[in-house]
Amino acid sequence: MTVSFQKVAVIGAGAMGRGIAQIATQAGSQVWLYDTQPEAIAKARDAVFQQWDKLQEKGRLTAEAVADHKSRLLGASELQDLADCELVVEAIVEKIDIKKNLFTELEKVLSNTAVLVTNTSSLSVTAIAAALQRPALFAGYHFFNPVPLMKVVEVIAGLKTDPSVCERLTEFARQMGHTPVQAQDTPGFIVNHAGRGYGTEALRIVSEGVADFATIDRILRDQVGFKLGPFELFDLTALDVSHPVIEAIYHQYYEEPRYRPNVITAQRLAGGVVGKKVGEGFYKYVDGAALIPTEPPVPVVDDIPPVWVSPRAARRMALLQVLKNLGAKIETGASPSPEALTIVAPLGFDITTVAVVERLDPARTVGIDMLFDDVATKRRVLATNPATRADMRDAAHALFARDGKAVSVIRDSGGFVTQRVVATIVNIASDICQQRICSPQDLETAVTLGLAYPIGPLAMGNRLGPDSILEVLFNLQTVYGDPRYRPSPWLRRRGAIGLSLMHTEEE
Ligand code: NAI
Repeated sequence: MTVSFQKVAVIGAGAMGRGIAQIATQAGSQVWLYDTQPEAIAKARDAVFQQWDKLQEKGRLTAEAVADHKSRLLGASELQDLADCELVVEAIVEKIDIKKNLFTELEKVLSNTAVLVTNTSSLSVTAIAAALQRPALFAGYHFFNPVPLMKVVEVIAGLKTDPSVCERLTEFARQMGHTPVQAQDTPGFIVNHAGRGYGTEALRIVSEGVADFATIDRILRDQVGFKLGPFELFDLTALDVSHPVIEAIYHQYYEEPRYRPNVITAQRLAGGVVGKKVGEGFYKYVDGAALIPTEPPVPVVDDIPPVWVSPRAARRMALLQVLKNLGAKIETGASPSPEALTIVAPLGFDITTVAVVERLDPARTVGIDMLFDDVATKRRVLATNPATRADMRDAAHALFARDGKAVSVIRDSGGFVTQRVVATIVNIASDICQQRICSPQDLETAVTLGLAYPIGPLAMGNRLGPDSILEVLFNLQTVYGDPRYRPSPWLRRRGAIGLSLMHTEEE
């Protein structure tokens, strides 16, 4: 196989540049690393060489292959050395003027067929290309950290990029063992845009005092299957990286309410409490391990009252089956008896509103989140309202924990935790499709590989039912009166006529 670009330069030998240089060399290209700090080049080559030595020790590379790779990863001491390169990947500091200067200098040195790409995560590809003589040969090539392990790359066409350039970059990505996805030049491209739902909605839930960080992390890990909770993820990425990205995307989309940042991360960033790398973020770290606050114990309740379930509960039959399996005394009357624990399971609405609308006694009313099928989750989430009596809350907690399943009890909020976060993720993903930033298939690929979600957001919406997601969003809009929950037309139309969220119209 001949590699698409025989001679490749990588400018900027930091975290990203060294990873890109590694996989391009492995694909078969001759690669030059250039950096304004010569010691950065030496450090990067050493680091990559060590990676290859480790792969050899593990038997994943032969000694010949390692020697061959090492012979093809070179350092360059000045831009002139790169004159023969057919592709230059820029991974330098995230400053538009410095990037523009570099590309202008490169155009003077390189042949007029050389392709130039930027690894920027937050700048506009079109804006950088505006400085160039040959914008048709310029594109975005957005990798993720650490490059050899995060096997997805966004290929971004600027306004003037020639489609054949994207095709070559796509092919080269595959040769490097990566999965390419095509994105339009828009703020955050695909992955950083799609990722806005998770952390931002979780922050809003915390800021309303509904639950603490650790509880929200547990709920989203156990109910949805996210590998890391949003606050664990913030700690890993560090707020000095993630908060500016949140702000940038919000402002680039002209203060779109869906992407609104939160004062919690702004304050923590200002205070230097940025995450694991400094030993303290949302969690404290000792020897690199997070100190996780212990979960509140299951209350001991001798006598659990009979249970009455609202006729309007989501997944009512499944909920009744759960209660039966737990050995609950289930009331079947049209209204609850005076001693009954009253269970509601709204989608989007808060427990307070449901108790008032259904004329239930709020003191005995507790909500349960039934968006996901109970058998598909490892945790049940209950919510009280401001009037719920402590004995009723404890009885519900003890009852739903009887089979050993984890239970979290949170304060009242439209949509509990999972409904809010999942509906927001599905809605933002739908809007990415609505804007034609990428195809639904590429969106799913980019998010599962780039954000390690258990399944793609559109598949998640389809599994739960677009109509359920829409119900959550419409009701959240009513509860909060906030346009951030307005459904994307993509979701609304497909939900209304029962189509898959992956469905694209015939062109
Ligand atoms: P880094 O700070 O680790 O490395 C940047 C390197 O570029 C440094 O070695 C620096 O000496 C060199 N450099 C700075 N100005 C230069 C110039 N004018 N000419 C040549 N070399 C120069 O940065 P990192 O994290 O590798 O990021 C690089 C780029 O990749 C940025 O545009 C960033 O936004 C983007 N990016 C970063 C990701 C990450 O997670 N770190 C993920 C995806 C994209």
